Amino acid sequence: DGELSLSRSLVNSSDKIIRKAGSSIFQHNVEGWKINFSLVLEIRKNILRFLDAERDVSVVKSSFKPGDVIHYVLDRRRTLNISHDLHSLLPEVSPMKNRRFKTCAVVGNSGILLDSECGKEIDSHNFVIRCNLAPVVEFAADVGTKSDFITMNPSVVQRAFGGFRNESDREKFVHRLSMLNDSVLWIPAFMVKGGEKHVEWVNALILKNKLKVRTAYPSLRLIHAVRGYWLTNKVPIKRPSTGLLMYTLATRFCDEIHLYGFWPFPKDLNGKAVKYHYYDDLKYRYFSNTSPHRMPLEFKTLNVLHNRGALKLTTGKCV
Ligand code: CTP
Repeated sequence: DGELSLSRSLVNSSDKIIRKAGSSIFQHNVEGWKINFSLVLEIRKNILRFLDAERDVSVVKSSFKPGDVIHYVLDRRRTLNISHDLHSLLPEVSPMKNRRFKTCAVVGNSGILLDSECGKEIDSHNFVIRCNLAPVVEFAADVGTKSDFITMNPSVVQRAFGGFRNESDREKFVHRLSMLNDSVLWIPAFMVKGGEKHVEWVNALILKNKLKVRTAYPSLRLIHAVRGYWLTNKVPIKRPSTGLLMYTLATRFCDEIHLYGFWPFPKDLNGKAVKYHYYDDLKYRYFSNTSPHRMPLEFKTLNVLHNRGALKLTTGKCV
């Protein structure tokens, strides 16, 4: 029926890839990879049945009035008030309206990027998507610097910018955002309670410093729609990771999608240790039951799609 079908056995064996990442179970063809345009179109069409990334990538100003109360997407019992600042930063129209690209890069944050020398290749794509405000300048040779679209979970304020406790944390943050110019800054503000103070501080800093960055806040239905698409295709994720969300959205805008920095395993194929993030010392969390993600399963799925020519997954060196 033209549906993308990933066989159950492949899905079920996903956990083994953690233990056997170095063995032949991981089949990944690099030489001879070719895009399969009809599959790309079919996937785009199927995803469109669940969501329209042009619309769902962000709520717009007319969706709310200041003072409106909404229920958090993943915690319906709790609510958030749409503040004046938040409302003033909602885009008038979708920041992705009518934007189409021949090639895009979606850059995950795995330590597999270190020593990859992928920076130039990543920057050569027409549109570059990055996750969680990951630093780039110090790692430019491996990760590049071009950032057309960058996500920011509210928890990043705590994790990477000291919770804005002192002026230098705030300055560092403003400096990071000013480097983005008019790129899209995508803030999942409506997922769960807990980050609302951080989102407000971020909004206030953007307004006060008149930063050019184009803020976007995912629609209330996006995450369920993305999960629905993958579940329908027999990929039982709990909650899509930011990286998988970005790939799913990118299928709408990009003909050829190249993924870098996806490697949710502590070792590479030669048994060498791989950091969870290329830029900090965060530990692997998905082994614990508290992690909302199933990154190894997602990875396995992306690898199947790579082998079928739907996307290109780079996990080695670029030169
Ligand atoms: N990623 C990966 N392997 C890693 C680390 C990250 O494949 N070792 C991918 C995941 O798809 C992840 C994305 O890169 O969503 C961005 O990484 P990160 O910022 O670490 O995401 P998390 O905060 O861990 O997870 P999320 O934002 O999805 O909740």
